[in-house]
Amino acid sequence: MNRRQSIGTIAGAVVATVAATRVSAAKGELALTPVAPGGHKPAPLPFNPAKLQGLSEKLVTSHHDNNYAGAVKNLNAVELELDKVTKDTPGFQVAALRERELTFANSAYLHERYFENLGGDGKPSGELVKALTTQFGTAGRWEELVRATAMSLGGGSGWVVIALSPLTNDLRIVGTGGHSQALAAGTPLFVLDMFEHAYALDFGAAHAKYIDAFFANLNWAVLDKRWQAARKVA
Ligand SMILES: [Fe+2]
Repeated sequence: MNRRQSIGTIAGAVVATVAATRVSAAKGELALTPVAPGGHKPAPLPFNPAKLQGLSEKLVTSHHDNNYAGAVKNLNAVELELDKVTKDTPGFQVAALRERELTFANSAYLHERYFENLGGDGKPSGELVKALTTQFGTAGRWEELVRATAMSLGGGSGWVVIALSPLTNDLRIVGTGGHSQALAAGTPLFVLDMFEHAYALDFGAAHAKYIDAFFANLNWAVLDKRWQAARKVA
């Protein structure tokens, strides 16, 4: 594998959300889906943005078309710059590009997972519900912790993620202030965007109302599908 293919493989695995977790049913092996440097394309919204409960079409469309698509555009640009790197490129330039690559890749990946897990009716269902109860002790404890984590990020920026750790075989709630923090090797199952751009247009600074609206639109069928796929890969 040459350098271009290597970079494409890493970035492709980060951004291509569904494809990245594709599993060969016959062999039970992960199927890599490399993307050439600069070749990422924004995924369309997986639902009709006019039909969400309590989140306006204007907010959701702006979030998708500007913040998410902007991250994909910037990721592509950084990858093309990284593709020009040689052994003679100053280390500080490479370090800066790698930092930006991680920021934009995580932003793109988490935004895709965020939009994917919206468009539902918010009613918990599926095997993941049982797993959350096993992990956090009681049926509602995980939600209490997620809401508290989200509230702690209100007025600023960050993500709340429930991730499966294949290193420790457990579910972990992760609260981050930026795009480039993540649980090592964690597979995001539940993704909540707490950047102000995700809610200010509709709710101003009232982020608690946004968190309620997010839960009301949570798509448990998607969450459960992720859980089943992550368990197989793990
Ligand atoms: Fe966002």
